[in-house]
Amino acid sequence: MPKNHEDQRHQRSDPSQDFHPNPYIYPNSTNMSKEYPFIPFSQKSYSEEEMLERTRDFYAWADCRRSVRDFSDQPVPKEVLENILMTASTAPSGAHKQPWTFCLISNTELKSRLRELAEQEEKKSYDGRMSDDWLEDLEPLGTNWEKEFIDIAPWIVVVMKRVYEFKNDGKKRNNYYVSESVGIASGFLIMAIQNAGLVTLTHTPSPMNFIAKALNRPENERPFLLLPIGYPTNNAKVPDLTRKPKGQVIEYYD
Ligand SMILES: Cc1cc2nc3c(=O)[nH]c(=O)nc-3n(C[C@H](O)[C@H](O)[C@H](O)COP(=O)(O)O)c2cc1C
Repeated sequence: MPKNHEDQRHQRSDPSQDFHPNPYIYPNSTNMSKEYPFIPFSQKSYSEEEMLERTRDFYAWADCRRSVRDFSDQPVPKEVLENILMTASTAPSGAHKQPWTFCLISNTELKSRLRELAEQEEKKSYDGRMSDDWLEDLEPLGTNWEKEFIDIAPWIVVVMKRVYEFKNDGKKRNNYYVSESVGIASGFLIMAIQNAGLVTLTHTPSPMNFIAKALNRPENERPFLLLPIGYPTNNAKVPDLTRKPKGQVIEYYD
């Protein structure tokens, strides 16, 4: 068995790391005297046979997802994007703070500006900021500093993480497990894009501060990912990658 939760609660390998009191560990840090409503929950379950079939099918479908860098400019209705983003927003989050904002961009001038700024940063990265190991790891992907897809894809979504919120009195109130929460929401987002029959690329121009400035985002938000979304071109190609087999990604504790 993996270590039980009680053990893990008190283990912090590096106490100097940012530490937020965990609301799940310190229930007394919230006002427990208030009563909050609970509602009944139920969910359809399946026979073991159905579960096997459903999980196999879902895995096979998920395994077809690829990061695509060749985008068509074919339009996609805005409501499709809104549905995708609201699906992402169903993700679990630390203390239900939902610490994300999705910037949905179709404006041509803004896309061009983002491309220009991303390329400036990426050029610096490829021309010296990235280590030799990093550049070598990127070789099979065939990437370079050019980011044409930001102009071409009909939609760009910038996922922003909200590090803290402003209370009504203007004071700051921290969010919890922000990167974990926004990472999970981004996973939902990527799957929702695939479910629509569209493609995306998880893009992280580095450093990303220019995005917050270009989009005029408030000071409590930090750029997390930039995702072009649309259809692939008819002759789109992806690198021939293999995924780790079961034996390399699962450790069993029976
Ligand atoms: C956090 C993260 C950042 C990434 N950043 C970039 C990027 O900046 N540019 C790019 O071309 N691909 C980027 N990728 C895509 C990866 O290269 C890609 O997921 C990987 O090669 C596996 O390919 P697949 O997504 O087709 O399975 C990123 C992926 C992740 C998860």
